[in-house]
Amino acid sequence: MPSFTPPGESQATHAAQAQRPVIPAMDVYDVADLREQARRRLPKGLFDFIDRGNDDEVAMRENQAALARIKLRPRVLADVSVRDQSIELFGKRQQMPVAIGPTGSAGLAWYQGEIELAKAAAAQGIPYTMATGSMTAMERVVEEAGGTLWFQLYMWPERELSFQLVERARAAGFDALVFTVDTPVAPGREYNLRNGFVIPFRFTRRNVVDVAMHPRWLLGVIVRYLLTGGLPRYENFPRHMQTRFTALPMGRSMATNPSMSWDDVRALRRLWPRTLIVKGIQHAEDARLAADCGVDGIVVSNHGGRVLDSSPATIETLPSILDAVGKRTTVLVDSGFRRGADVVKALAMGAHAVLLGRAPLYGTAMAGQMGAMRAIQLYRDEIDRVLGLIGVRSVAELDPGHLVLPWDAQERGRPRRADEPR
Ligand SMILES: Cc1cc2nc3c(=O)[nH]c(=O)nc-3n(C[C@H](O)[C@H](O)[C@H](O)COP(=O)(O)O)c2cc1C
Repeated sequence: MPSFTPPGESQATHAAQAQRPVIPAMDVYDVADLREQARRRLPKGLFDFIDRGNDDEVAMRENQAALARIKLRPRVLADVSVRDQSIELFGKRQQMPVAIGPTGSAGLAWYQGEIELAKAAAAQGIPYTMATGSMTAMERVVEEAGGTLWFQLYMWPERELSFQLVERARAAGFDALVFTVDTPVAPGREYNLRNGFVIPFRFTRRNVVDVAMHPRWLLGVIVRYLLTGGLPRYENFPRHMQTRFTALPMGRSMATNPSMSWDDVRALRRLWPRTLIVKGIQHAEDARLAADCGVDGIVVSNHGGRVLDSSPATIETLPSILDAVGKRTTVLVDSGFRRGADVVKALAMGAHAVLLGRAPLYGTAMAGQMGAMRAIQLYRDEIDRVLGLIGVRSVAELDPGHLVLPWDAQERGRPRRADEPR
């Protein structure tokens, strides 16, 4: 059968697509569909943990709402028959302007979910960030997935233990270290308490019924773990703390450390010779301090609206941070990016790339590696489409002129001051 080339799609675009892995649509056409598939598959306690924010979830909603308020101003007749969304990040070429952000629960959403997610990222040519709180040993991810791998670090109160983890990540061959600094104390997430989704996990009538009502997850994830070595555990924690997620002693105090300071960043800079990224910056002054410590990059992030519910949308914080450090350090951003258009907006503002948190996790929960690949593919297709629709052939061509910013409109709408020229 002759192949059909839709009007406007060039042979060049099709040639590039031919090299890509074939990913079935799985009846999923946007991130909202992925989310719904994950919701059906996972027990409510786990789905809420992945999907929700904290407190009243204002920050989580605002991240997306602020992105929606920004508009893209198209240029026309720009011959967009060949479009390229690849970028260079930390000295490496990658296929798309996104990376997979660290999410500690991939290994609960799917059997060895971290490996599945990392394989999906490698197949699509983007970096994968492995979280400290993963259920898979970091060395296995390096061996089985390959690709560009970043390791996310929490600084434990016993710093020496975190430094040992850094050494392990270096020996394993991770390309970058991502130091998360936005959680010095545990955030409030009441729904976890209501759902009984607490660490150590407690069997209550409610969560036993919840799990029983999701047999695909029970068999496909928990029973599979039980058959191959036991309940999932935090494989990257120091040996004496590698308890199962049903047992003490780890809890929140393991992950939070209220005494973190810039000295920790400086210590990591001395310890880690490769790319060092600080994640969770929301203030231009902090961005400057991070750059002064010699980091290679920062992530403007409010943790997907999961930590401080009164934090501003990251897309609204981004411009002041780019003004402060955009010329001397790499600026990444995350939180609330659910569409390719959202990614294009951040890039047009000057961000170097966007991290994706929940979306690839929904994909992993739906169908492991294939589901994560479908998630990444949705962004790739949407970014490609939006670039074409605004008359842009490559990420380098994007600039703030493509943006209509709500705050500019407010400026235009304000009354003229008496001393202002007409
Ligand atoms: C279930 C879940 C677990 C997460 N775990 C971590 C973590 O261990 N370390 C970290 O730095 N960020 C963690 N994050 C935050 C993400 O890295 C990222 O900042 C956030 O999800 C981005 O927002 P988005 O989900 O709207 O894309 C987690 C996010 C989710 C949803």
